[in-house]
Amino acid sequence: MAAQNNVPLPDGLELAGYRIVKKIASGGFSIVYLAYDGEGNAVAIKEYLPSALALRQEGELAPVVSPANLPVFRLGLKCFFEEGRALAKIAHPNVVRVLNFFRAHDTVYMVMAYESGHTLQDQISRQRAKGGQIGPAFIRQVFIQVLKGLREVHANGLLHLDLKPANIYLRGDGTPLLLDFGAARRTIDSGALTLTPMYTPGFAAPELTIKTSPLGPWTDAYGIGAAMYACMAGAPPQPAEERRKADRMEHRFAELAGRYPAELVALVRRALASDPLDRPQSLFEMQKALQALETEPPPPVFPAPAGTFARLRTLARRLRARRRGEPADTVQG
Ligand SMILES: Nc1ncnc2c1ncn2[C@@H]1O[C@H](COP(=O)(O)OP(=O)(O)O)[C@@H](O)[C@H]1O
Ligand SMILES: [Mg+2]
Repeated sequence: MAAQNNVPLPDGLELAGYRIVKKIASGGFSIVYLAYDGEGNAVAIKEYLPSALALRQEGELAPVVSPANLPVFRLGLKCFFEEGRALAKIAHPNVVRVLNFFRAHDTVYMVMAYESGHTLQDQISRQRAKGGQIGPAFIRQVFIQVLKGLREVHANGLLHLDLKPANIYLRGDGTPLLLDFGAARRTIDSGALTLTPMYTPGFAAPELTIKTSPLGPWTDAYGIGAAMYACMAGAPPQPAEERRKADRMEHRFAELAGRYPAELVALVRRALASDPLDRPQSLFEMQKALQALETEPPPPVFPAPAGTFARLRTLARRLRARRRGEPADTVQG
């Protein structure tokens, strides 16, 4: 069924003790709003509203779901709710914090701590527009933390299954966190009930698209490899279905090897192996490989003006000379 354009909830609406400020994003499965709780804390509220199944028109709060779509809509709703409940148990600095869950308007709402920042995809697009590239030190520090968050998710019995730069959010201070566990999308496996494809071509492991082998942490390892690849290449890897017919990734890895440390390219190449058994055997192994990576520190955000370092060195030399010539307790600075 064709996707419909859903009208967001009106600004200023009071909903289960929260006040909607405005819509901040909408995708095929949900609408995300900025809202405030009773104490004035900013929250992000995600509304389950798969546009292929439910239609909300101007002036209405509850969406209309046709009888034919109702079973799939309900199944998705149940999964959204259950996975949200599982996510709510996770408190990790690199995983979005789920604060609450409630039902209203014949659908479900997930309340998260509001994070101010931008997605890793935005960062990639900005770099591309400038003609630059994302440096290895940045990739190293972002993905070490992403892997820590993901390990916590796996430890709680959940898989992400939709890892990509658009679902990795960077706070203002640069720390990353995982967003969007695509909860509703995982209903799709259940029997004959189907929603639109749950995966994002290029980022999805072959076992997600062709269902050749079981899903597991190795499926997310592929997604991490694909997200790291996108940072380096500025574009997603070749989609798994295409790779099955004519794999062009080796050529692309060779190109990257000229621009990035060989160990980093080797790690990404292994994570993107089509056979899950050829991928790194654990996320911890990937994290350790990144930690061992030697990279230059990322450039300062505001580069010091020319000559600053030379002047600082002279100053330090003078201070040392002064210290040698004077009693220690009278030395200033
Ligand atoms: N907790 C949050 N804080 C701030 N913004 C958020 C939060 N969660 C989601 N968003 C915003 O909403 C967008 C879409 O969220 P996401 O969970 O990825 O949903 P979708 O299923 O539409 O992809 C994000 O890219 C981000 O801009
Ligand atoms: Mg998303």
